[in-house]
Amino acid sequence: MSQPTIESILSENRVFPPPAEFAQNASIKSLEEYQQLYERAKADPAAFWAELAEKELHWFQKWDTVLDWKPPFAQWFVGGKINISYNCLDRHLTTWRKNKAALIWEGEPGDSRTLTYAQLHREVCQMANVFKQLGVKKGDRVGIYMPMIPEAAIAMLACARIGAPHSVVFGGFSAEALKARLVDAEAKLVVTADGGWRKDKIVPLKDAVDAALEDNGAPSVENVLVVKRTEQKISMESGRDHWWHDLQPNASADCPAEPMDSEDMLFILYTSGTTGKPKGVVHTTGGYNLYTHMTTQWTFDLKDTDVYWCTADVGWITGHSYIVYGPLSNGATSLMYEGAPRPSNPGCLWDVVEKYGVTIFYTAPTAIRAFIKMGEHHPNARNLSSLRILGTVGEPINPEAWMWYHKVIGGERCPIVDTWWQTETGGFMLTPLPGATPTKPGSATFPFPGILAEIVDAEGNPVGENSGGYLVIQHPWPSMMRTVYGDDERFRRTYWEHIPPKDGKYLYFAGDGARKDKDGYFWVMGRVDDVMNISGHRLGTMEVESALVSHPAVAEAAVVGKPDEVKGEDVFAFVTLEGEYEGSETLVRELKQHVVQEIGAIARPGEIRFTDALPKTRSGKIIRRVLRSLAAGQEFAGDTSTLEDRSVLDKLRGSS
Ligand code: WTA
Repeated sequence: MSQPTIESILSENRVFPPPAEFAQNASIKSLEEYQQLYERAKADPAAFWAELAEKELHWFQKWDTVLDWKPPFAQWFVGGKINISYNCLDRHLTTWRKNKAALIWEGEPGDSRTLTYAQLHREVCQMANVFKQLGVKKGDRVGIYMPMIPEAAIAMLACARIGAPHSVVFGGFSAEALKARLVDAEAKLVVTADGGWRKDKIVPLKDAVDAALEDNGAPSVENVLVVKRTEQKISMESGRDHWWHDLQPNASADCPAEPMDSEDMLFILYTSGTTGKPKGVVHTTGGYNLYTHMTTQWTFDLKDTDVYWCTADVGWITGHSYIVYGPLSNGATSLMYEGAPRPSNPGCLWDVVEKYGVTIFYTAPTAIRAFIKMGEHHPNARNLSSLRILGTVGEPINPEAWMWYHKVIGGERCPIVDTWWQTETGGFMLTPLPGATPTKPGSATFPFPGILAEIVDAEGNPVGENSGGYLVIQHPWPSMMRTVYGDDERFRRTYWEHIPPKDGKYLYFAGDGARKDKDGYFWVMGRVDDVMNISGHRLGTMEVESALVSHPAVAEAAVVGKPDEVKGEDVFAFVTLEGEYEGSETLVRELKQHVVQEIGAIARPGEIRFTDALPKTRSGKIIRRVLRSLAAGQEFAGDTSTLEDRSVLDKLRGSS
């Protein structure tokens, strides 16, 4: 891990206070109000969360202990019985929200569907009953490999309803990546679709499932439930594969939500780390429900009239927490869009905003940079006046992109919430509250109430104003990950041991560097470990390296992120070849395709450079900082004394 540097300090002095009228109508109306809330939560986090848990959620049975903290293992609301699908559905049915739109869905080809809370509840119950019919019991894991269609959310809620933890795998991942995740989670059932629409093409999801299960590839999988979406011909293996539309009509819509222990596992979601093998991040029920509920409510200042749209895919944590669970637990209207901007319709997102009168729009900096590139005439040609709050997530947002978002999309009237968080944290950790926090372009501002965030050095000592350091959390919070699935030791090692406990306090560290300015604003600078951020998606350098060396031509590979205008970072690979192979354009293409096959299109290297040696330390560790400079087209100015063979540097420069 390299010490974060502060060379990226931005001289960003612009401050945007919440518009007065907005603040007046917000639930948290001023910085003072936020600060009071923050101080109260800090003084006694357990009491703070307990009060909200009581007020905001339905419990079948109240907890005995709010927080049981045996570092690094936390349990929240111990002894409490709860079901998040009940909180997202059933409890709204006894109110006027019964017939409110829960999900508004827009398909890429222009088809659409709206499900009220009553309708969504009905379908979730039916799918839960189908799961049971297919032998799924409480505690069994279910893999979900879906396009962005309502059935993806329905499947998640159906799992939650019967207590079968889900493991959603992003539909852009390859069959190989899917297989590895199904095997690790020992999934019993896979829910998928024939395909999904993306950029006017069919993503053949069922084919990928077939490939993953071929030759008993994931032996735990007994059944596959298939939703019809794209209608191309697919193969259905009799006994194993079942169409949803065949089973749904006979499935009862009566399926009471299972009272779950607060600490029962809700889902596993795999994410990239610094080793080749993705980690199964485990989230449990009660604390996750509460935290995603509160962060959605306060960060987006939710009102019952809002049409809320998060453009993430349900395959990522953002989709889990902020398309499905957080919004529905609040009884909000959550919009789901299947498509992506594409040559045939570059303004499609703005069409959706106009068509449904979207009021809250939440997307990623990489998307904003792509919008800038496509040109402001697209948004300008639509009526975006319904928007009142904008959000971003996934990577640090560059101030220029922030300003464009503010002006062109937000019409200079919408507060922007820049939310810093992770798969591991379950919900927003640093974020403005739109009616309370003056924002600065590029800063995620302050911690959410109840979150004790700090910036420390390698020994755990807080660093001074504007000094770069490691971003850590000093106190457990309700939606923190509980462990790495099946690997407590990896959990401890990865998040709790890089920085030693300070004054008996364990510090959670998940890999980002940051600084605090004179006003206490947090500025996240990005990963300080071997994890890249490609279009806001995490990808471990080791993962791509493992994929490359699994090709017979490759002897060794070293992968780094290269700065990219739209993606933030792009994958840049240095490769040494086995003796009998020669570097060629054809081989470059083949290797790129190989990575796509092993992981998925998001991991496709933008550039592959052949070299006959890699820069290493005497102990054989690849020195990535050297490669990062070379990939960025810069001279390496740092210390090269640890290099085993300095002539490698000259060779690397000359080998392009
Ligand atoms: C980065 C996505 C700066 C960060 C929710 C983190 C951000 C990683 C921000 C987690 C932000 C996310 N500003 N950096 N607002 N949001 N990140 O697990 O490096 O896919 O560690 O969760 O994304 O990525 P993940």
